[in-house]
Amino acid sequence: MVEFKNVTIKYSENVGIFNVNLSIGKGEFVFLLGDSGAGKSTILKAIYFDEIPTSGEVIFAEHSSLTLKNKELPFIRRKIGVVFYDFKLLEDRNVFENVAFALRVTQMPRKQVKIKTLKILTEMGLVQQRYKMPNNLSAGEKQKVAIARALINEPYILLADEPTGNLDIASEREIIEILKKVNLRGTAVLMATHNTRIVEENTSFQKIYLSKGKITG
Ligand SMILES: Nc1ncnc2c1ncn2[C@@H]1O[C@H](COP(=O)(O)OP(=O)(O)OP(=O)(O)O)[C@@H](O)[C@H]1O
Ligand SMILES: [Mg+2]
Repeated sequence: MVEFKNVTIKYSENVGIFNVNLSIGKGEFVFLLGDSGAGKSTILKAIYFDEIPTSGEVIFAEHSSLTLKNKELPFIRRKIGVVFYDFKLLEDRNVFENVAFALRVTQMPRKQVKIKTLKILTEMGLVQQRYKMPNNLSAGEKQKVAIARALINEPYILLADEPTGNLDIASEREIIEILKKVNLRGTAVLMATHNTRIVEENTSFQKIYLSKGKITG
């Protein structure tokens, strides 16, 4: 579903990612590991077609960075869920609207939007919180809202960039359990982290190691 063929994204001399080859299949759970600056976020951005390779090719589903048209981007990105360490919620909208927003842009009928949004908020244990504004939520709750928003369009893959970076250990474990459930239902998960404890606690998942922009294992 995701394939990198000799991908280089060069920001400047020796800065970026270099000759990266990788593939992620349907339903896999993969950790993307490496020190700060290793190129983890750059790889996630390349899958989202937010960065286009200097050379090489990124393929997501049936789309290639070589033939991509700008007008296709919004439709492609609906098939990719993204979650960040700092949540990136819309601070002026409540929990319900933060999640529903991602559906409204698809021009889905209002009633349908409501049904789908309430369903996912219920699954995340957030339905009681639906009228709260983001700044009245705990960090763990914020990340659950962000995950609900990322999943509402039923993406093929969820890209999580250090999703537990702002959380305590209890919330971190809760978020990892949610990501595992999401994965069991068939969504691929690619999670960038430098948190070695998470990796030690989840030995069964695939790992991609990056160092200075290159894959080392
Ligand atoms: N837009 C950009 N312009 C110039 N350099 C960039 C840009 N984005 C990233 N870089 C550089 O590319 C390298 C890889 O950055 P990247 O953000 O992918 O690392 P990372 O592994 O995600 O690090 P962290 O764990 O700190 O998030 C770094 O040296 C970074 O400074
Ligand atoms: Mg990063």
